[in-house]
Amino acid sequence: MSNIIIVLGAQWGDEGKGKVVDLFSERFQIVARYQGGHNAGHTVFIGERKFILKLVPSGILRPGVAAVIGNGVVIDPAALLAEIDALEAAGIDVAGQLKISNRAHVIFPFHRMIEKVGEGRPDRVAIGTTSRGIGPCYEDKIARRGIRMADLVDPGSLETLYRWLAADKQTTAHAFGVAEEFDCDAILARYLEMAERIRPMVCDTAKLLNDAIAAGRNILFEGAQGTMLDIDHGTYPFVTSSSAAAGGACAGSGVAPTRITGILGVSKAYITRVGGGPFPTELRDERGERLRKAGKEYGAVTGRPRRCGWFDVPLLRYTAMVNGFDSIVVTKLDVLDDLEQIPVCVAYRINGKIADSMPATEREIESIEPVYENLPGWNSPTFGIDRWDSLPARARDYLKFLESSTGVEIGCISTGPERNQTMILPGSKMERLLPGDTPG
Ligand code: GDP
Ligand code: IMO
Ligand code: MG
Repeated sequence: MSNIIIVLGAQWGDEGKGKVVDLFSERFQIVARYQGGHNAGHTVFIGERKFILKLVPSGILRPGVAAVIGNGVVIDPAALLAEIDALEAAGIDVAGQLKISNRAHVIFPFHRMIEKVGEGRPDRVAIGTTSRGIGPCYEDKIARRGIRMADLVDPGSLETLYRWLAADKQTTAHAFGVAEEFDCDAILARYLEMAERIRPMVCDTAKLLNDAIAAGRNILFEGAQGTMLDIDHGTYPFVTSSSAAAGGACAGSGVAPTRITGILGVSKAYITRVGGGPFPTELRDERGERLRKAGKEYGAVTGRPRRCGWFDVPLLRYTAMVNGFDSIVVTKLDVLDDLEQIPVCVAYRINGKIADSMPATEREIESIEPVYENLPGWNSPTFGIDRWDSLPARARDYLKFLESSTGVEIGCISTGPERNQTMILPGSKMERLLPGDTPG
């Protein structure tokens, strides 16, 4: 039977999904993205080489593994081709490994323009987006006027659809007082040219994935962003515009929920967020600066400093609930190595009462007073440790505390950015759910 596993972010993104997916991908024949676009930045270190994957699934770095961009993803062809060029220059067989859904939606330059207008309006709170046109492209998808990869690679239908959409966007831009005109013909010509290079990779990826399942192949879904950035379950409106949570993997790929055999969350041993929005355990003092420095917490896509804070148990319990995590990977344990004490938020107090669910509004989340429990730090290096027994006793106690307070198994621990700086705990559910080391 196939192993169909979803790996996704349990916090606000940048949990280390790229590293984890790269590590696990040697056990899978296919790695697939199901949502988001080049707002994602998944960093993978292989020895001295550093890769930042944005649109292309991290599985591409394993020779012979098929990388699939599913229908739920939004694709900027220029960003895609730039990423493909960089991967090919690094010796990766992109043409042989990458497949792109004919139902994925296409991002155009005017999507970025519209986003800029929205983010800059004085009557709106800025979300602090990545400015990649992601939101406006999803808006067009839901409004049923979007352009899909199948249209992009069909010159017969692209021009008509494109001219309608471009006229629509120009009208919106004018309505918001943007004087800038975009060169409609030049954009069309460029997109027709880019379509030529992309066409051979475009296919019905839902069929490809389901045929692979029928043939007993293993599939790993790679989430982008994180559950707290999910359009429904995140800290709305400070979210991205797609379904980052586990449910999105089925809608965004055409693989049925009955096929999924495991759902694995990725969480830092603390927490970070990029962009605007409420953040209950945020550290706005030098302790946050210390985490940022130790964890090199700067955005992989925009270079913005990531906001840092202590591990948030109620948040993890909530994301475990909406995703149904079987087990989680805890990353960046080593970043906490030189702390005397490590506070962990164990409950939310709102208006003097302990909350029993995640509040829905920005106002309520802003009013959370985190209840902390102070755990002793281990004050010794864990960087690179790959065995549970070799971890300092207090680091093991910290992890056991996170496990018991969240109610979710910690099945894998990461102690550095490299593949081998990781341990999958023997006897864990994580170990049982992952296929064996050598794919058949
Ligand atoms: P993603 O978006 O979830 O794939 O995460 P990013 O790549 O944006 O950010 C995670 C960063 O942490 C990357 O620079 C990784 O190389 C790095 N990283 C991942 N796991 C570990 C770890 O266990 N320890 C340390 N020190 N760095 C890690
Ligand atoms: P990975 O996959 C962290 C954030 C942005 C902004 C909000 C909306 O690397 O974990 P968008 O451009 O998506 O409309 O921005 O979401 N954001 C991320 N934060 N990691 C990401 O991806 C993110 N992708 C989007 O900073 O707050
Ligand atoms: Mg990232």
